Amino acid sequence: MHTEALGEADGSAGAVVRTRLEDRPAWLLTTHNTTVCLCLGPEDTLLLPYWGASGQTTAAADYLPERMGNRPSERAFVDGLPLAYPSHGEASFVEPCLMVSRADGSRGVRLEFVADRVSAVGGRAVLELVFIDRLLDLVVEQRFVVFGELDLVARSVTVRNSGAEALLLERVLSAALPLPPAEYDAWTLHGQWGREFELRSRPLQPGKFVTESRRGTSSHEAHPWFAVRPRGEAAEHVGQVWFGSLAWSGNWVAVFEAERNDAVQIAMGIQPFDFGWRLEPGADFVSPELVGGYSERGLGGASRLLHAYEQTVQLPANQRERPRPVLYNSWEATHFEVHAEHQLELARRAAAIGVELFVVDDGWFGARDHDRAGLGDWTVNTRKLPGGLRQLVNDVHGLGMQFGIWVEPEMVNPDSDLYRAHPDWTYHAIGREATLGRNQLVLNFARPDVQAAIYQQLRNLLTEHGTIEFVKWDHNRAWTEVGWPERPMQQREVWVRHVRAVYELMGRLRAEFPELSIESCSGGGGRSDLGILRWTDQVWTSDNTDAADRLNIQYGYSRAHSPRTMVNWVTDVPNEQTGRVAPLEFRFHVAMQGVLGIGGDIGRWSGADVHIARQLVAAYKEIRPLVQNGRQYWLLAPAAIGPCAVQYVSADLRETAVFLYQVRGLRGAGVRRVRLHGLDPARRYRRVADGVESTGAALMGAGVPLDLVSARAPTLDWRSRIDVWRGP
Ligand code: GLA
Repeated sequence: MHTEALGEADGSAGAVVRTRLEDRPAWLLTTHNTTVCLCLGPEDTLLLPYWGASGQTTAAADYLPERMGNRPSERAFVDGLPLAYPSHGEASFVEPCLMVSRADGSRGVRLEFVADRVSAVGGRAVLELVFIDRLLDLVVEQRFVVFGELDLVARSVTVRNSGAEALLLERVLSAALPLPPAEYDAWTLHGQWGREFELRSRPLQPGKFVTESRRGTSSHEAHPWFAVRPRGEAAEHVGQVWFGSLAWSGNWVAVFEAERNDAVQIAMGIQPFDFGWRLEPGADFVSPELVGGYSERGLGGASRLLHAYEQTVQLPANQRERPRPVLYNSWEATHFEVHAEHQLELARRAAAIGVELFVVDDGWFGARDHDRAGLGDWTVNTRKLPGGLRQLVNDVHGLGMQFGIWVEPEMVNPDSDLYRAHPDWTYHAIGREATLGRNQLVLNFARPDVQAAIYQQLRNLLTEHGTIEFVKWDHNRAWTEVGWPERPMQQREVWVRHVRAVYELMGRLRAEFPELSIESCSGGGGRSDLGILRWTDQVWTSDNTDAADRLNIQYGYSRAHSPRTMVNWVTDVPNEQTGRVAPLEFRFHVAMQGVLGIGGDIGRWSGADVHIARQLVAAYKEIRPLVQNGRQYWLLAPAAIGPCAVQYVSADLRETAVFLYQVRGLRGAGVRRVRLHGLDPARRYRRVADGVESTGAALMGAGVPLDLVSARAPTLDWRSRIDVWRGP
């Protein structure tokens, strides 16, 4: 046994250890706190018998793998084994990750182990395991990138056709995670438009639980993230949690399968439904990454590891560390009524409040007076903006703010010049009427001519009107009639080709305009996965801006994603979506949990409201580094009645902010305490507002009283406060 690719001397990088188990090749992936054990099983199947706490050893046998195997008459079957990548063609009977066939009818994959490669890429240990199917001439490479300091492993698969005949890939999932026999519960995120990111928990029972998207994007309905815990063992701050987040913005699937021996397998990747990929000789297909990990610090610990991954690895590097500006967005104030003078009036108000980025939303282009026309024509409507866009851009810059603009590049209204010129550029099926969604159709982004035309329009937009620093990239409908009649052999590839083309286009624009930031939007948070966060800097979390609903939405979002990617607006009351009336300060305190924005008609705000807004924007800027870079701890989850609380701690542990809320109180309820987390026990912290002091240990042990309601004026509802504590 010997160890390779060990990281820096301080051990902050992960390592790959080549070893042997029962006289067969095995590998240990080690991170700060965890170890993943991989080994070859019968028939060269790749097994993953252990992913958990580090045993402080590099001998695979020390993890005491149980002797596995079926009853004698079924010894040759491999079900019941912890398969790391089950393939159709093995005698495994579980949900397969890989299905391949050839025109001559050969199908079923049997892989033989060929070689391992251990390397260090960008200071990270990487293990690649190469397998081959000699009948299909198919090479399968399993890749593991070890993030030692983050306790994460990014897994992906490359499938290569090394033969002379084309192969049909019927499914290529990213990875499977087998867990040993026990009883488990799964956390997943679900929702709909205006109600994204509801955290649900359910027991995994015999049979399958499938969560997925078939809508084209990662979707509002389900989110490509999961966390699993032994039943009853883990909670917010403690306990074993295995988790994963798929870096893919298109159709996806996660299958949780409780096997007959009570083991669980979780297989996740690109949705196989209606997928098919013709793999030409010499070509390869690379799956998206499934970033997974293990934590003993409960759901909160798992979330913080994924936040750190986004903040230090995934987000576009050039903007990764930049503070996200306070933005204003004019959508709820104007809808399609975009007019230069009114926008400028809003911009003046916004600047006076302390806004740093002014974003003109939908309605500025083509014949876009309503949602029935204009999408696809990304040219300035000079009736609405008589001085052109350049004038408005200059005016906004003159007020000391950056300028941002809304686009929806993958869509077209039938009533548009683009559609009239190229009706065949949309997804359609011959002989069938196309289904409209929000009066629009989806462009076939698999087509190189569509990609080129949209790129040219966006490039013109970004070069012809002065410097545009920010684009809100929207996507407002699910896909239907998805096909490419002119390329019948590639019809089922478009689900993937489209997503890759969007990534490429975003990447190309970012390379050409390095100062550009992009916000991902899809009717709110319908495309806010780890994949899109490689190319965009932040996400419009939901079209629902009601402060009470937002507490739930933001709670769910932040289980999977970093607060520095989560955009929240303060909007007007009664709220557009719910009719609820929350006080301005409460609305701000909720929006301050991530990237603060204002989306109300600030032209109509009273002088008193503008004054409050100015103060709260200034307060936000003070704690912005804490919120956008800090470690987040949910102290009390949002509840219909009673308090909830979320805390942020700076990396150096000197500062913490505690956000306290109560949408609805209960008459006569006693004052609850919340225990803070993540502080330095020995340090003395001082509450900025009133000078109260305590030690980190006491704040974490005894906690702080959640005294949101004063005995003298018992207003029970819509209470909120942000306490900042600082140490020396
Ligand atoms: C979507 C977005 C909104 C807004 C509108 C504009 O619904 O989520 O924020 O941009 O489109 O049409």
